[in-house]
Amino acid sequence: MPARVVVGVQWGDEGKGKIIDILASRADVVVRSQGGNNAGHTVESGGEVYKLHLIPSGILYPETLCLIGCGTVIDPKVILEEIDGLIARGITCENLRIDPRAHVIMPWHIEIDGLGEALRGGSEIGTTRRGIGPCYMDKAERSGLRIYDLVHPEVFAEKAKLAGELKNKLITSYYGGEALDVDGIIREYTEYGKRLSKYVADVSVLTFEALRENKNVLFEGAQGTLLDIDMGTYPFVTSSHPLSAGVCTGTGIGPTEIGEIIGVAKAYTTRVGKGPFPTELNDEMGDLIRNRGHEFGTTTGRPRRTGWFDAVILRHAVRVNGLTGLAVNKLDTLSGIGNLKICVAYQKADGTVLKDYPASLEELAQCQPVYEEVAGFDEDISSCRSFEELPEACKRYINKLEEVCGCPVKMVGVGPSREQNLER
Ligand code: GDP
Ligand code: IMO
Ligand code: MG
Repeated sequence: MPARVVVGVQWGDEGKGKIIDILASRADVVVRSQGGNNAGHTVESGGEVYKLHLIPSGILYPETLCLIGCGTVIDPKVILEEIDGLIARGITCENLRIDPRAHVIMPWHIEIDGLGEALRGGSEIGTTRRGIGPCYMDKAERSGLRIYDLVHPEVFAEKAKLAGELKNKLITSYYGGEALDVDGIIREYTEYGKRLSKYVADVSVLTFEALRENKNVLFEGAQGTLLDIDMGTYPFVTSSHPLSAGVCTGTGIGPTEIGEIIGVAKAYTTRVGKGPFPTELNDEMGDLIRNRGHEFGTTTGRPRRTGWFDAVILRHAVRVNGLTGLAVNKLDTLSGIGNLKICVAYQKADGTVLKDYPASLEELAQCQPVYEEVAGFDEDISSCRSFEELPEACKRYINKLEEVCGCPVKMVGVGPSREQNLER
């Protein structure tokens, strides 16, 4: 059967983990194909909260095969901690597989991420400082270390020595930082490699075989469309392709395998890190949404910036991902805050109205959101279990989002747990 893809359509943290966990109950295979432990995906099940960074959100189902594809970057220490943490809570990781082509985040990547941000001064990206950008830089430069290398000690020692000594030169002479203990790192990471070797398998082959056996395959996006290195708010983006197309290169399957593409959005907008955010609310309403929605980063704990729903961004996401449907989470957060605003276009100082998200930040900086205001609602909707049960004002808000985004809303979230998801 054709595969299903779930992607974030704003700046990340849209509730992808929850949607994946719900859809994974019917999936045989769940695949992560880009990003690393910059991601933080929350799954709530049976009163327990799981925060996953690298391991696919299908891991709570013991029969589901969880795959991490070639397009990801893996911090061996973090993934082992995550595996140990899950096992300690009674979750088996026997069905986890990692592609040998995935790149390894080394301590020098983390060091350079921090030093690079400090050097940018006031114009820093606001990265998660997990070494993501520097690791993808080495991949593109063709000097990176891969999982295959990590699990082959002789190969690893030689390649890591070369890479580490070169990075030490960069760290000390360019960034003015402290040299790292390369030999110590090699010893430590060789041990991680030994522990990870049992999980290594060709994810492209496993995914292809599952698709040929007509199994239910689900792709879990990390980050979000506006953080895509090409289609996002460059340079305030991550270094991978969170778009639906990214699952093909990041797993090693062809686009013809994909049937359904679900974009996950919040009923409003949030962003962590720096960069443009046209509908941002730097006022009491922004604080209210942040506090009600508990908008603090899953990975770094940073307060998330908050703002109204932006349909210009959503139309961009519908186009660049080829979305077949939307899941709109956190509608419950908007209860009792008064009328709701939806940004339907941007207007420049000279009066020009933009309906499409502009490519340049300079043009975006001149844009003001054009809002349509709709009636809000005061009811507690967290116990609604069908779309029909929602108050009329909620239904009107969702129908309006559908109209201005040009995409059907197939799921509505009214709370963080599995049961609080209304399928239409
Ligand atoms: P992800 O990175 O896209 O998986 O999202 P995160 O887990 O970083 O952030 C989403 C947060 O919203 C998590 O704390 C979820 O438990 C929570 N969440 C998801 N859907 C809903 C919803 O419909 N209502 C509420 N109140 N919380 C939700
Ligand atoms: P999930 O999968 C929200 C943001 C960072 C920063 C920018 C670049 O949980 O939705 P990086 O460390 O990737 O070089 O940082 O991207 N960012 C995220 N924001 N959710 C995420 O993942 C993110 N992953 C990266 O805050 O602005
Ligand atoms: Mg997150």
